[in-house]
Amino acid sequence: MRVLGIESSCDETGAAVYDDKLGLLAHALHTQIPMHAEYGGVVPELASRDHIKRVVPLVRQVTAQAGMQLKDYDAIAYTAGPGLIGALLVGAMAARSLAYALNIPAIPVHHMEGHLLAPLLDDPKPSFPFVALLVSGGHTMLIKVSAPGDYELLGQSVDDAVGEAFDKTAKLLGLPYPGGPYLEKLAQGGDLKAYHFPRPMVDRPNLDFSFAGLKTAVLNAVHQAKDDGHYDDKVRSDIAACFTQAVCETLVKKCARALEQCGLNTLVAAGGVSANSAIRQGLSALMAKRGGQVFFARKEFCTDNGAMIAQAGMLRFKAGVRAGLKVDVFPRWPLDTLEAL
Ligand code: KG4
Ligand code: ZN
Repeated sequence: MRVLGIESSCDETGAAVYDDKLGLLAHALHTQIPMHAEYGGVVPELASRDHIKRVVPLVRQVTAQAGMQLKDYDAIAYTAGPGLIGALLVGAMAARSLAYALNIPAIPVHHMEGHLLAPLLDDPKPSFPFVALLVSGGHTMLIKVSAPGDYELLGQSVDDAVGEAFDKTAKLLGLPYPGGPYLEKLAQGGDLKAYHFPRPMVDRPNLDFSFAGLKTAVLNAVHQAKDDGHYDDKVRSDIAACFTQAVCETLVKKCARALEQCGLNTLVAAGGVSANSAIRQGLSALMAKRGGQVFFARKEFCTDNGAMIAQAGMLRFKAGVRAGLKVDVFPRWPLDTLEAL
């Protein structure tokens, strides 16, 4: 069986073909980043308009890449939320209409479930149950994953998402949007002892996160360096490295606590920020120390993509999940309201 997956929740249009026996057959992505970079962030209306232009050509491209025709699909999956309403509607409309025309089911997929299961696109795959750390531009969550669809929220950010903290800190350091990957480069070679930024909420017993205080500490460090007249590339690199270290330690401590609490020793890290090498190293070191295992998605599947939607769509298709004829999208959609498959 083959599922076409369409992603359009934010600033990337993705399409992919997933086969239940062979896995991923084809995937393609169009990123709008250069278009939004000029404005320093995503402009929702521009995003929607661009998705309209890209979605059909991308579907054609992956269908050809997979050596298929449209009539060969068994179902069409699409991101139904959370995300920008206009952007979501484009992918949902395209998927729902095409499925109707082909007389096959349309399958709504939760974007964060797509991220969470993205590490299953490659081998070795994590086995259930596990603890998932979801770190993206809009979310920071720790989740107990008992089975596909069975998600218990253990903790989340009470203010900024980690990706947002990376992007805001990057902007402060004069880096382009979205800053995460640029900040990672700038941090290389930075002195980890130059600054000690707060590790927010690590002493609290719960599994929630907060990154607003860290952002303020970085802001103060930048102002101080400017006032002292020594704000240069070395200082920027040191700040980037120490910021990353503070985020990394916070994530590691909370992951360790979540694993303890659940009595589990398998960790999955997913979402855009899980592409960060320092964070991957920190989590890998934690799991090596615990004698457990950690799984990441391949770097291109950490950020938004169609492959993760096609894969989650296949799981849901097989479990009998179907979209109605009315096109519904859910800009806000808590992950733990999904039902176990
Ligand atoms: O998962 P994603 O593509 O989109 C959302 O669903 O939000 O995540 C995007 C976020 C952005 O904040 C971006 O700066 C961050 O992930 N990101 C990174 C890295 N690559 C992407 N943050 C830190 N280091 C990276 N290498
Ligand atoms: Zn995402």
